[in-house]
Amino acid sequence: MSSDYLYQQLENWLSEGIKAQRWRTGDRLPSIRELCKQHDLSKATVQHALQRLEAQGLLEARPKAGYFVALRSPVAEPISRSRIDPPRPATVSELLLDIMRRSAAFDLLPDLHGGELPASIVTLNRSIARALRRQQGEDYQYYDDPEGNLALRQQLALHVARRGWQVDTDQLCITSGCQHALFLALMASCKRGDVVAVESPGFYGVLQLLEQLELQVIEVPATLAQGMDMDAFEEVLERWPVKACIVSPAFSTPGGSLMPEASQHRLLDLAESYDLAIIEDDIYADTAFGVVPDPLKALDRHNRVMLCSSFSKSLSRDLRLGWIAGARWHTQIICLKLVTQLASSRYLQQGVAEFMADGSFATHLRRQRHELHERRDQLIAQLQTWPGDIRVSLPQGGLAVWVELAEHIDTLKLYPQALQQGVVITPGPLFSVSGQFTHCLRISFAHPWDERRLKALKQLGEMLS
Ligand SMILES: Cc1ncc(COP(=O)(O)O)c(C=O)c1O
Repeated sequence: MSSDYLYQQLENWLSEGIKAQRWRTGDRLPSIRELCKQHDLSKATVQHALQRLEAQGLLEARPKAGYFVALRSPVAEPISRSRIDPPRPATVSELLLDIMRRSAAFDLLPDLHGGELPASIVTLNRSIARALRRQQGEDYQYYDDPEGNLALRQQLALHVARRGWQVDTDQLCITSGCQHALFLALMASCKRGDVVAVESPGFYGVLQLLEQLELQVIEVPATLAQGMDMDAFEEVLERWPVKACIVSPAFSTPGGSLMPEASQHRLLDLAESYDLAIIEDDIYADTAFGVVPDPLKALDRHNRVMLCSSFSKSLSRDLRLGWIAGARWHTQIICLKLVTQLASSRYLQQGVAEFMADGSFATHLRRQRHELHERRDQLIAQLQTWPGDIRVSLPQGGLAVWVELAEHIDTLKLYPQALQQGVVITPGPLFSVSGQFTHCLRISFAHPWDERRLKALKQLGEMLS
């Protein structure tokens, strides 16, 4: 036990114990009280060590039962790494539009709508209906302020304060979803032809934005555990004039990686040295199964990080409500919001603010986290029955896993084959502009694994044999 801090010593001791299989998958660790006694540590120190191990995916907390050794992925890293190519214009495959038109990026069976509304969405709808009924006078004839409803911004500021980030309401701007926030951030910080660094594999929606804005993309290799590789990023910065960098430190798409704090500090130092805009896509943070990670923005001393997020993954895609903290670009962003959207719907914002203020959002998140965690485990259990050598990421949040199949499998060829059987897949090459990841797939666990979806997963597995 050689580390400086007591919590690190305990963290190392526990993680070594897990590696040496002193505790196996599913085993309960000694209680906090036992660990305090055994190691002569305070409760806060023990809790800190346990929470860090939980954030790394080694442990999972079960309410009232303690900490357990988490399920391990069928395989460990490394999963295929991308190469570094020079910047190029972003061009996105037509296939992506096909998948998006089928509304299928997050479901193998997009026609399976239906089912009952969850209780939290019923409550949300009631809050919105109440706000609508309260509409007064000629409200309906006027646009709301471009920065958005103050009550909603206050609730958002309170919400993120729990994650170590103090933000004033006048630094926030409400948007039409996270995609709109990302668009505003890119518009404010870049001009046509500029080079933007992205994680690889990374979110196709960003690649679509870069294409439309005629920006060049440079893909920086990312690992499934730790996100963007900072050594590779530094190499990129030395070689090319990068203007902005888009990252998802909390559960990046497609693999669900979590960027370690040391990498976050390094990213911010590099941003300062190379005068970069950092665009943080924080959309998945609230889906964390355990502790919600602090945002990169909380460490931003130089006002260079634009944080973008929305309610799409945490509550409802249909709200079309997101937000951006625009840092040094804030004033410009307000102006761009005005130009691109004029304003957001007043009653929708008021209804969501009320839903947050009465604690319903927090209750909803607690339930949803638990469900998503279970759905991830069910998905991984199914994937373990697939033939051949497959590798699967093990995210601690987000809505999807990244699956690496045998090298010879081409998921672009698999797409029409699966479609014939009514199954829509999201092939790996969509997460890059350089034709990589042909043998990879993203599979979502956003929806419950009912009989039909389980059947679709089985069918997919059979197509691989
Ligand atoms: C990583 C990421 N960012 C942004 C978005 C867009 O979110 P919104 O629906 O809020 O526009 C998505 C949607 O899939 C996403 O996965």
